[in-house]
Amino acid sequence: MKLAVYPGSFDPLTNGHVDIIERGTRLFDKIVVAILVNVEKSPLFSMQERVEIVREVFKGHPNVEVDTFEGLLVDYVAARKADVIVRGLRALSDFEAEFQMALMNRRLSPHIETVFMMPAEQYTYISSRLIKEVFALGGRVSGLVPDTVETRLREKLAAQPAR
Ligand code: PNS
Repeated sequence: MKLAVYPGSFDPLTNGHVDIIERGTRLFDKIVVAILVNVEKSPLFSMQERVEIVREVFKGHPNVEVDTFEGLLVDYVAARKADVIVRGLRALSDFEAEFQMALMNRRLSPHIETVFMMPAEQYTYISSRLIKEVFALGGRVSGLVPDTVETRLREKLAAQPAR
């Protein structure tokens, strides 16, 4: 069975991530969406919420699993007995950091391959950071994130004390 790990912060999951996961399931038998623990000191969505979101969006897709990891990504990939890391590449601006990470991971574990996938072009400008910023300032993010993310963003905004 060809297992691939798709790591990230997913704070929150966007339709760009969803697109990459769907594409990945056509190439691999199973994709593990691996959410990094403690990636930011103050993420908007808790780890439990981020896990719930992926579970909800990929409910009924047995070839998509969600998990969390700490420490080195290559150690997690080895522990899962996988040898492929999937990363999305949106634009040239992603390339430098991704190239560095892929080569560092290769140096750490030469048998683990990083596979880059391009999302559908309508998602190439989306990032979790921009989604959070636009939403917090009152902009519309529908069509850019799964419905459950939009609902949860709205709930978070409503729960904030008025300034
Ligand atoms: O969604 P992100 O924030 O771009 O994901 C980055 C992630 C989680 C893939 C990266 O930070 C990572 O792999 N962190 C785990 C620690 C690690 O292995 N660092 C060395 C990578 S070369």
